[in-house]
Amino acid sequence: MCCTFILRQGRGLYADKTILGHGSFAEWLVFTGHFIQIRKGDCGMTEFWEASFIENQTMWGFEPADSAIMTKDFFLEKKVKDVLIPGIGYGRNAKVFMDNGMNVTGIEISKTAIELARRSGLEMSIFHGSVTDMPFENKYYDGIFSYALIHLLNEPDRKKFIKASYDQLKPGGYMVFTTISKEAPMYGKGTQLGKDYFEIMEGVKMFFYDSDSIKQDFGEYGLVEFSEVVEPNKNAEGKPPFPFTVVTCRKQR
Ligand SMILES: C[S@@+](CC[C@H](N)C(=O)[O-])C[C@H]1O[C@@H](n2cnc3c(N)ncnc32)[C@H](O)[C@@H]1O
Repeated sequence: MCCTFILRQGRGLYADKTILGHGSFAEWLVFTGHFIQIRKGDCGMTEFWEASFIENQTMWGFEPADSAIMTKDFFLEKKVKDVLIPGIGYGRNAKVFMDNGMNVTGIEISKTAIELARRSGLEMSIFHGSVTDMPFENKYYDGIFSYALIHLLNEPDRKKFIKASYDQLKPGGYMVFTTISKEAPMYGKGTQLGKDYFEIMEGVKMFFYDSDSIKQDFGEYGLVEFSEVVEPNKNAEGKPPFPFTVVTCRKQR
């Protein structure tokens, strides 16, 4: 297996601007101003994220995303106690739920991200593996929150992930997905692989949901609503905010 990109520290972006364009995913990924240099070849998502966390560590800081704060308020209102966070990274969005009395469990594909969560003192169970292999335990949750993961999956894996999340909800439970919006600057960049699906940089494929595809994928899984949210780059002053869509579903009682 070969890893096809290297990440270097510095003050700028070494990525191929002809592929990435301005305000690219790479810029978004490395809010901290670290360099990304991409080499030709093939690289899987696990290697990509592992290399990103090894090089850039806690790259988004520890402030929760706005949609995590909004979801925490929503979960409090709905009296959610047990929260599952698929694609938890190093846990920057976990603390806001824990600080408000909720028990958090994570799922994460990068071992390094899990170690970073441990080193920062976040005490919760995190299953190491892919969300496509859910469930990892025989437990049901009253809340699931997943930030910036679903759009990284291909169509069969997105479907699998949505169904597996729904299956792991208690009756009446809620699942909330924050996914990249078509309004984001990387929409349409790189190689088109399908409708609204692009390899925006080597090894990073992204699907951009719109209202039709949201209804199609989440419709049979208790879709309640979806709305746009603009997430500020809290760890990098001067970087533009990014538009996301927040999709909320509820399991039938
Ligand atoms: C854009 S990052 C967001 C991280 C975290 N949600 C946050 O906001 O800090 C996507 C995360 O999903 C993880 N990931 C990617 N594919 C995954 C998969 N198939 N299963 C589980 N985690 C995955 C990555 O390692 C990374 O931590």
